[in-house]
Amino acid sequence: MKKVFSALLAGVMACSMAVAFAGCGGSSSSSKAESSEAKSTADSADKSTADSADKGTLHMATNAFFEPYEYYDGDKIVGIDVEIAEAICDKLGYTLKVDDMDFDSIITAVQSGKADFGMAGMTVTEERKQAIDFTDTYTNAVQVIIVKEGSDAVKNADDLAGAVVGVQMGTTGDIYVSDLEAEGTTVERYNKGADAVLALSQGKVDAVVIDNEPAKSFVAQNEGLTILNDPFENEEYAICIAKGSELTAKFNEALKALKEEGKVDEIVKKYIKA
Ligand code: ARG
Repeated sequence: MKKVFSALLAGVMACSMAVAFAGCGGSSSSSKAESSEAKSTADSADKSTADSADKGTLHMATNAFFEPYEYYDGDKIVGIDVEIAEAICDKLGYTLKVDDMDFDSIITAVQSGKADFGMAGMTVTEERKQAIDFTDTYTNAVQVIIVKEGSDAVKNADDLAGAVVGVQMGTTGDIYVSDLEAEGTTVERYNKGADAVLALSQGKVDAVVIDNEPAKSFVAQNEGLTILNDPFENEEYAICIAKGSELTAKFNEALKALKEEGKVDEIVKKYIKA
């Protein structure tokens, strides 16, 4: 597990340097192609309060291929995370800017100050807590297995041992499946969850392990795939912020108020129909 994580970390660092050179995800550069100005749709009433005079821009690092949490609608990044982030920034008096990058570059972007926070359906894990702080959690998720309809290769979580499994690089799905390498599992790592799902459709992998809600949207968009009735890891999502930053307490306060107002539930229900 330790080994896997340090290998992942090395990957994270290499990728984030590439990202730095490519010029994405910096608090100082404000007119990047991959940034999308999130126009606030939340209660404008909040804006008139003294506490929310404009305090500047906060950059959110995300990986926008993770519907319904963050995804492109045309050239705009939308989704549950973006709307919760907008509502938090609105309450605190910041303008939100969303920076799209590889998932495994997010933590480094936050650590280095290139982004002010990371929000990407990111699961709280002990390993990540060594590198960054997390806010309170805002939703639950579960890792699920996607397979081809009628395929016999993987029928339940136990069958992942020895199978060829696709994951998004640096995700918890990657970490869980990497643990099975000792049992003969081959892990194929992709930059985007969608690429892992494409590999599954093409028969290059036997299964994909990914979070439940994105899994549902991938299955809805790709014929012949199905989610196994064997979820195997419960998780909780939170926002990551640089270690020791004062922003965490402010975010927690705003998040608490938004939960109490029912705003978080409202946003989740808008994107996830029961
Ligand atoms: N919940 C998983 C994790 O934290 C996957 C998150 C992937 N998010 C994304 N926006 N691609 O590792």
